[in-house]
Amino acid sequence: MGLFSMAFTGGSFILLGAWESLSSSSQPLQQPPYNEHISIGSRYYSLLRDVEVMFTSMFYTDYVPLFGGFLDKLNGQSSMLERTFKDLNAVIEKIINDHLYKSNLLESAQNDDTVDVLLGLLNDSTFPFNTMNHIKAIMMNLFVGANTISAAVIWALAELIKNPIPMKKVQEEIRSVAQNKGYILEGDLSKLKYFKAVVKETFRLHPLAPILVPRETLQKCNMQGYDILPKTIVIINAWAIQRDPEYWKDPEVFMPERFMESSVELKGHDVMSMIPFGGGRRVCPGYTFSPVSLELVLANLLYSFNWELPDGLSKEEIDSNVLPGIIMHNEKQLCLIAKKSF
Ligand code: HEM
Repeated sequence: MGLFSMAFTGGSFILLGAWESLSSSSQPLQQPPYNEHISIGSRYYSLLRDVEVMFTSMFYTDYVPLFGGFLDKLNGQSSMLERTFKDLNAVIEKIINDHLYKSNLLESAQNDDTVDVLLGLLNDSTFPFNTMNHIKAIMMNLFVGANTISAAVIWALAELIKNPIPMKKVQEEIRSVAQNKGYILEGDLSKLKYFKAVVKETFRLHPLAPILVPRETLQKCNMQGYDILPKTIVIINAWAIQRDPEYWKDPEVFMPERFMESSVELKGHDVMSMIPFGGGRRVCPGYTFSPVSLELVLANLLYSFNWELPDGLSKEEIDSNVLPGIIMHNEKQLCLIAKKSF
């Protein structure tokens, strides 16, 4: 079973099941198998990439349960999965242990973060997800979501550097709202109409999770003349929907203006032609805070710096190829020159 199916086929319950089947023990931590000499920072980013790749890797056992496991062993997928899981488990245990150690030293809950709050729920009988493995499962969800905001900022900058007119327009808008304040605050964001259209247009062209989370049909249905049986895996191609010429004029063109007079929002609800955060009951749980976090970072980068291509690089050379994995990252790293604007 791939990390993908582990974590994303049924929210925390199935995730927990998978966590328990892969981890040797579901007991509270005693001696974490973590090498203190390896800094979390250096391992974090490469592990994040490995986890993202594992989420969308193909595992035969998901499709041919009887002997798929044998094929996965043969092609090395199982051992790759085990290794990634062990590394991820070790990093998460290290974070948990640091927090447990810290809370033994400090009495005050004033500086509690998400992990402290989760640990506070351990063995709380009023909360259904109260074991160490539940906490690890929730942390894994947070871990996987962590890379999305930087990826979105990079796609937006890549599009803006290729399209100087929208770049000029958006910087003028941001600078006129912030004036000489020196930064953009959350309260300023609602005044940035064109900027918000830039963000939407970036998500339209570059949905970070382009095939959403797979669904499974519960009952037989008929679609466009095809009978779809129960328990069929349904893959929704958000990338293709958001570039469908039936819904979008000049779909391949970066044109934030298309959102200026439109009521289309980032969360697919009535309008399913735009679903960068998915839709329905499995919509991205990060939807409530991710847009603001991303907008704050991007608006401040556009406010504080003028962006240029390095000598010798033309905008045609900025490609839109992507790396494999659950989150769409540029294949080639975007390299730009930032010049302080004030
Ligand atoms: C710009 C930021 C983000 C984008 C564009 C994004 C996009 C998505 C999409 C398209 C899905 C699939 C939804 C569906 O199938 O209907 C998803 C699921 C998910 N996202 Fe995000 N996401 C973002 C940020 C985050 C963050 C920051 C977190 C966590 C801290 C997060 C956690 C998750 C989780 C746990 C799921 C799986 C939910 C499930 O199992 O049903 N996401 N996200």
